[in-house]
Amino acid sequence: MLATDKHAGKDLAGQLVNEYFSVKDNDLVVGGRTVRSLAEEFGTPLYIYDAAIMRRCFAQLKAALAGFAEIYFSIKANPNPAVAALFVQQGAGIEIASAGEYERARRAGAKPQNILFAGPGKRDDELEHVIRGGIGEIHLESFEEIDRVEAIAARHGKTVAVAIRINPVASAQGGAMRMGGKPSPFGFDEEQIGDVLAALAGKTHLDLAGLHLFAGTQILEAETLLTQWKHGLDLSARIARDSGRTLRSIDLGGGLGIPYYAGDRTLDLDALRKGLPPLIAMKAADPLLQGARVIVEPGRYLAGPGGLYVARVVASKMSRGSRFIVTDGGMHHHLAASGNLGQVMKRDYPIVAPARMTEPRAETCSIVGPLCTPLDTLARKVDMPKLQAGDLIAILQSGAYGLSASPVDFLGHPAPAEVLVDDGKASVIRERENFAPAD
Ligand SMILES: Cc1ncc(COP(=O)(O)O)c(C=O)c1O
Repeated sequence: MLATDKHAGKDLAGQLVNEYFSVKDNDLVVGGRTVRSLAEEFGTPLYIYDAAIMRRCFAQLKAALAGFAEIYFSIKANPNPAVAALFVQQGAGIEIASAGEYERARRAGAKPQNILFAGPGKRDDELEHVIRGGIGEIHLESFEEIDRVEAIAARHGKTVAVAIRINPVASAQGGAMRMGGKPSPFGFDEEQIGDVLAALAGKTHLDLAGLHLFAGTQILEAETLLTQWKHGLDLSARIARDSGRTLRSIDLGGGLGIPYYAGDRTLDLDALRKGLPPLIAMKAADPLLQGARVIVEPGRYLAGPGGLYVARVVASKMSRGSRFIVTDGGMHHHLAASGNLGQVMKRDYPIVAPARMTEPRAETCSIVGPLCTPLDTLARKVDMPKLQAGDLIAILQSGAYGLSASPVDFLGHPAPAEVLVDDGKASVIRERENFAPAD
């Protein structure tokens, strides 16, 4: 990651290229391959993931959290099993939110005991599926769920490890997309802890392992994360005390952010690391917590920087004085880059012309996709080299919440291929879809 705690300057794309990739002649090189050659070999639109960058993000975070927490990959960020496998091979567990993600986690090589299941609307058949197959913990999010997990576990003659997911009070949250503090469908309000412990009492097939807290995503301030994590430890101490149990696990959630927009701060891992000793000491001093493992479960931070979304220009046109570059890719594959995945303000992801890297950005244009909606805009009035049909564009920071968070069926364009590049070797990890004949 960018090593310093600076605000990204105007040229975020340039900074990211320097940090993660290289440029050879006029070409962007990813994992030893030019984007141009990958686009020729595998076609466009195309997701490209660089295994080395993903491993590096994991290793840097692991080093920063050493002595404090272990890492689970939140597979919703990128559910391709080949991507998740990169983290599993480095020792990560997997956090899932559905039985479908359970299967993907298993395909990625995760052992059942290293999978955590959170999500506000787990169905009975999903609970059956994971309880039958084995699961590390189920994170409880409603009173109905407490009863349903107990009943299903009893039916299978099993005891299931569970954690209480808490929606924290406002003082303990932060991030761009807040999921705590306000009324929320996720988890139990902090104020309900007593009622939850009462509901768990006498549930002979549920084994209370600990707490799960997820207070927000895209958090770029180390200080905010440390505040949340401290609050997570405080709540854990309270749960342990009130339930009279020693806790085995404390899941502090994900939410670690990456820079997407000019001016975004880069999360300062060094500041995070330096802020941990008081938390480590606090946990060590509490006999009910000292044996518990702490978990951090990021998605975006691990998978985001290693991914690019590449599209080919199909037309360059003028409309009333404005230049529009129309590409074969768009919001149906990358909703987040179009600004339509929960963003309050529409701003542009970092974007480059990967086969024209050294040319001056001489033209101001808007880059749009093929859908019949103005929402399908990938960049608004950006400076790019003079692009024409056949040229390529690449959106950086696209390895998380890309394809899986996009309306792929909207307007019937085939889903793109996904390719993993590992030290110069590219493999297709999801085949490109084709037009299906009507009969
Ligand atoms: C419970 C839970 N854990 C982890 C994550 C991963 O978040 P991020 O990608 O911001 O780290 C999410 C994202 O919504 C989540 O809901």
